[in-house]
Amino acid sequence: MIALNRIQLPDKPLFLAPMEDVTDLTFRYMCKHFGADVMYTEFVSSEAIIRESEKTLRKTRIFDYERPVAIQIFGNNLHTMVEAAKIVETFEPDFIDLNFGCPVKKIATKGAGAGMLQNPELLVAISEAVAKNVSLPVTVKTRLGWDDSSIIIHDLALRLQDVGISMLTVHGRTRSQFYRGVANWEPIGALKANPKITIPIVGNGDIKTPHDAARAFDHYRVDGVMIGRATIGKPWIFKEIRHFLNTGTLFPPLTVTERVEIARMHLNKSIEFKGEKYGILEMRQHFGNYFKGLPNFKETRLKLVTTLSVEEIEEIFQTIQKNWGNIPLDNDHLIDNHCQKLERL
Ligand SMILES: Cc1cc2nc3c(=O)[nH]c(=O)nc-3n(C[C@H](O)[C@H](O)[C@H](O)COP(=O)(O)O)c2cc1C
Repeated sequence: MIALNRIQLPDKPLFLAPMEDVTDLTFRYMCKHFGADVMYTEFVSSEAIIRESEKTLRKTRIFDYERPVAIQIFGNNLHTMVEAAKIVETFEPDFIDLNFGCPVKKIATKGAGAGMLQNPELLVAISEAVAKNVSLPVTVKTRLGWDDSSIIIHDLALRLQDVGISMLTVHGRTRSQFYRGVANWEPIGALKANPKITIPIVGNGDIKTPHDAARAFDHYRVDGVMIGRATIGKPWIFKEIRHFLNTGTLFPPLTVTERVEIARMHLNKSIEFKGEKYGILEMRQHFGNYFKGLPNFKETRLKLVTTLSVEEIEEIFQTIQKNWGNIPLDNDHLIDNHCQKLERL
């Protein structure tokens, strides 16, 4: 069982991966509702925290019902990272996570995110300095290495453990892989098999089904499983996985009627957090995800993602239920769509 200071996590904990522009307060509410055990804010820039950027500070907002919840920061300057960590500590997350895994060009090529994997000395120094300067547990999320010729995770994990990092999440890809190919879980399993590693290891990458999660726990023996893209358009995946881990049986895919109910709940929360106009605007990407794959849906979809009226959205929901209600819908295809979009950034 994972314990981070005072935080005790349940057996086989399921983590919602931090995802910029996805895992905001509303999306986290949905995932918590469906059983996510641990959550993170979207990553926030350490420099922007220090500048007191309003937009960035808004992203660090957390609520008690989300606990345990972490604020994730990124950057490549030791002093800035320490100062930002001290600031976010006052917002009282349960722990602070350091992002050394973001592959996006504008971040990694400037030496932050996964760019830090090219400078492990600094990565470890920042981790040590942050861990020493805050009293909350400090954790790290990273990748296997920069590219295939520099898989440094084994040495790095030991060094991070030595300097006071409390938990390590590893995405089984290199930075060069971006989101391509398949995640390589062998190095993650090898980390867990190393008796010198005593901190919890959370495995991440391509968990799309309850079977994937069960394999991560049973075969690779990780302490926690983190799920990212498979939650998009499917926040109930946590419930499906937990059910499978507990019983060995699968839920049938949700019908479109059930999806409508979830989309309605999501919309109501979005409006509660952001007000009617922004709440609806924010939902447009999610509506697309909840109903993607429905046959002959183009016209209805267009209406759904252009109206700014809650009443009209409710009418469209009713139409969807009437016309498509009993269709079971799977949405694995969403994962590929997201990768293509990210690589262009
Ligand atoms: C849209 C998107 C945004 C992301 N933003 C972050 C982020 O802010 N911080 C982070 O550590 N990882 C971020 N990631 C990476 C995910 O946390 C996760 O490591 C990655 O998607 C692999 O897990 P998956 O195969 O379950 O999606 C992002 C991924 C996606 C798809």
